[in-house]
Amino acid sequence: MSETLERWSTRRAFILAVTGAAVGLGNIWRFPYMTGENGGSAFLLLYIAFVLLLGLPVMMAEILIGRAGRRSPMQALAHLAGQAGATPHWRWLGLFGVTTVFLILSFYSVVSGWSIEYFIESVNGNFVGQTPDEIGASFNAFLADPLRMTFNHTLFLLLTLSVVAAGVSGGLEKLNNLLMPLLYLLLLVLAGYAVTTDGFGAAAAWLFTPNPAAITVSVVLNAMGHAFFTLAVGACALMAYGAYMPDHQSLPKAVAAVAVLDVTVALLAGIAIFSVVFSQGMDPGEGPGLMFVTLPIAFAELPGGAWWLAIFFLLLLLATWTSSINLAEPIVATLQGAGLRRGRATALVGVAVWAVGMLSVMSFSTMADVHWFGEMTFFDLVTTVPTDIFLPVGGLLIAIFAAWVMPRDTVVRALDAGPRGFRAWQATVRFVSIPLVVIVLVSGLL
Ligand code: PHE
Repeated sequence: MSETLERWSTRRAFILAVTGAAVGLGNIWRFPYMTGENGGSAFLLLYIAFVLLLGLPVMMAEILIGRAGRRSPMQALAHLAGQAGATPHWRWLGLFGVTTVFLILSFYSVVSGWSIEYFIESVNGNFVGQTPDEIGASFNAFLADPLRMTFNHTLFLLLTLSVVAAGVSGGLEKLNNLLMPLLYLLLLVLAGYAVTTDGFGAAAAWLFTPNPAAITVSVVLNAMGHAFFTLAVGACALMAYGAYMPDHQSLPKAVAAVAVLDVTVALLAGIAIFSVVFSQGMDPGEGPGLMFVTLPIAFAELPGGAWWLAIFFLLLLLATWTSSINLAEPIVATLQGAGLRRGRATALVGVAVWAVGMLSVMSFSTMADVHWFGEMTFFDLVTTVPTDIFLPVGGLLIAIFAAWVMPRDTVVRALDAGPRGFRAWQATVRFVSIPLVVIVLVSGLL
């Protein structure tokens, strides 16, 4: 494929698209259960530090590579490496990213399918009047039912790929323009409501009172992986969006806006979820089922709970939709770059992601006894290794490429922040972000 001609039509459209990619399961599902499992405020503090020191600078690196290359990730990397006189093997970084998003998308679609199920169940008022035990049991029964799980996983993937097939800059722009403001509105209502519950004080204390004693190497590794995951950085996915970035737009400003929006969503979701968790005296360290079990229990006992719950799952579904579109885009763009037509590339990606996703579906039933590296099911494996290891490794290589390999002038132009902005970014990436990822990865793996 030669230079792509697609462009986001406005600066706002670009910011919305990247925010749509960033805000998703990471903020609303993963952030709360990871925070719950990793000591509350300790995790929150590290996550915010990593967003600032790693997430933002590396996000700029990733997007500027796409913007300077104006091609699919693999081709952009090969093209820019050629321009810099570096080895064309850099293009394998694009393939590594595509592998990472592929694995993430495979479980992302399954968990997003849970929101479809829960949205429909809450509209039908299924949780009203149920005891906590009944609600917990019905979640487990759902997980153990491969047919229902498969149906929802398939439906979600079809929803995602129908937008991807249409081409992101047309289809996605319209979607984001509508969804993001709606999402914020719904979350604000939900958090505002949470403030009135009994558990709000305890939730705020758990989230915001510093607790350095809870920091361990694995908490640090998890927080770093989560910072990459929630910002959608490290998998060359945003590189694909950078290729469609308009010509005159400051990258640091755009990226800062995205990070603020992303962290706000996580905080609002965290406040809403932990307020109800603490109101009901539940365990914050419940794991990936945290949101799906605790919220129906909590809301079931509150006035109008079924509707709040339905709104919540609708909101989650909309947010995951725009993220999964971003996960699929670099895979489709890569196949398209290899000469496939867009429709055919999308269909191929759909079939492959669906098949690998089925391993996650079956992790809760037919394959529950198949373990990898000790105790992990396939679902445990695919929700941790790509996020905690592959994203930081990908981010590290992206940072090295942008800050050490690419010619200065190309970077200055693609960053669009003037010479001083460039120097500040380059120094941060070279002397803070890169060493930090290396230190955390090495100590985490040892
Ligand atoms: N950022 C998305 C979320 O928080 C997930 C994602 C990761 C999207 C990597 C794209 C690339 O849900």
